[in-house]
Amino acid sequence: MTIHWNRVGLAAATLALGIGFAGVTVAQTDPIKARQELYKANGGAMRAIKAAVDANGPAAAVVPEAGKLVNTFKTVTAHYPAGSDKGETKASADIWKNKADFDKLNADALAAATKLETDAKAGDMTLVAADFRAVGATCGACHDKYRLK
Ligand code: HEC
Repeated sequence: MTIHWNRVGLAAATLALGIGFAGVTVAQTDPIKARQELYKANGGAMRAIKAAVDANGPAAAVVPEAGKLVNTFKTVTAHYPAGSDKGETKASADIWKNKADFDKLNADALAAATKLETDAKAGDMTLVAADFRAVGATCGACHDKYRLK
C-alpha cells in the first residue's frame, strides 16, 4: 500500500515540483496507513499460522508468516510520529503519553514472533503451537491498552 501512496505522490510531485522520489516518500507516506497495513498483514499471518497449528503442520508454512510478524514489529514503531493520533486511526492518544510502555509491548511482541519463527524453522510444531498462543497474548496486551474500540 505504501507503493500506492508513493505512486500518487510521485505523479503529483512530478507535475507540481519535479522533485525526487526520496523526497516524495517522506512527504506523502501516511504513517497511519503504513502502520495499519503492517497490522493488517499481522492479522493475515495469524490466520495462516492458526491453520497450520490446527492441522499440526507443516511448520515450514509458518516460517514466512512468522517472518511477516517479525517485520511488522521491527518496523512499525517508526510509523508513530507525534501528531499521528489525529485522523482515521484507532491508535489511542495514550501511546504518545506512555511511549516507553508502548515500545516495550512492541518489543515483547517482536521477541515472541522471533521465537515462533525460530521454532518453526526447527520444525517443532509443539513449540510452534505454544508460541502462537504467546504471540496472540502480546497482540491482546497492546490492543487492550492502546487500540481504541
Ligand atoms: C505494541 C502495540 C501493538 C501490538 C503488539 C499489536 N498491535 Fe495491532 N494495533 C495496534 C494499534 C495501536 C492499532 C491501531 C492502529 C491505527 O489505527 O492507527 C492496531 C491495529 C491492528 C489491526 C487493524 C489494522 C487496520 O486494518 O486498521 C489489526 C488487524 C491488528 N492490529 C492485528 C494485530 C495482531 C494480529 C497482532 C499480534 C500478532 C498485533 N496487532 C500486535 C497496536 C498493537
